[in-house]
Amino acid sequence: MGNNRLAGKVALITGGARGMGASEAQLFIEEGARVVITDVREDVGQETAKRLSPDGSVCTFLRHDVTNEADWSAVVDEVVKSLGQIDILVNNAGIFERGSVLDTSLEDFERTMDINVTGVFLGMKTVVPHMVKRQKGSIINISSVAGIQGTPGFLAYGASKWAVRGMTKGVAKELAPLGIRVNSIHPGIIDTPMLQTFEAAGEGVRDAVRTRIPLGYEAEPIHVARMALYLGSDESAYSTGSEFIVDGGWTA
Ligand SMILES: NC(=O)c1ccc[n+]([C@@H]2O[C@H](COP(=O)([O-])OP(=O)(O)OC[C@H]3O[C@@H](n4cnc5c(N)ncnc54)[C@H](O)[C@@H]3O)[C@@H](O)[C@H]2O)c1
Repeated sequence: MGNNRLAGKVALITGGARGMGASEAQLFIEEGARVVITDVREDVGQETAKRLSPDGSVCTFLRHDVTNEADWSAVVDEVVKSLGQIDILVNNAGIFERGSVLDTSLEDFERTMDINVTGVFLGMKTVVPHMVKRQKGSIINISSVAGIQGTPGFLAYGASKWAVRGMTKGVAKELAPLGIRVNSIHPGIIDTPMLQTFEAAGEGVRDAVRTRIPLGYEAEPIHVARMALYLGSDESAYSTGSEFIVDGGWTA
């Protein structure tokens, strides 16, 4: 069990049905938080919430498409109504698709930007008014090493993750006087369903990374969840507008 590092806090985690979001939800609960996970994957999301909290007291699931502003309003209203507050927002939902500058269609580009960037923007826009009322809150935007360095062959993904990093910094400066912190996490290669799907398609991601990652292995979702725990807790009180890299030394 944990050390109550998030005692009394309420967290909203998007894309929490599986992968890193689900791992963050589990760790946050172990550390005393009440968590709402949201996702477009309804069945998996319900199962995850049930697994993490069989009686529903510390984890619930809401269906939510992060690209949809009305969905965001409904989710935030529901969380505030049922749990009274939102202390931590983890903008984690995202998609990862291959495509170079020549073979990315406008439609492909817009799909990635819609989920990975507009989703994060709408999340901040909708949750911040509630945090402002309480003059506190921590927003954690999940970017990537693709928001630290160039990623040939992943044009839209790279653009989206740099945008997340940039928005994080601007919003952090806007909200600092109001007691709200905003940081980005930049995972490297993490063993989640997203990565497994890619590997199954014969992309050879794991082999490639082993040669590039100084620590020599891909991480588990818990490695990123522990960084999110730190940023969600008051232990990170003096950090805002910063990049927190979890990449085994890849971008060093
Ligand atoms: N796995 C990695 O190696 C890696 C590395 C760097 C960054 N990331 C980022 O970490 C985050 C989580 O990735 P993961 O590896 O856990 O992926 P994942 O695919 O396992 O989980 C992402 C979740 O987001 C959900 N989602 C997708 N579109 C959505 C939408 N429109 N609305 C709501 N939910 C939606 C999916 O249904 C899924 O459950 C993503 O932002 C991803 O870009 C992943």
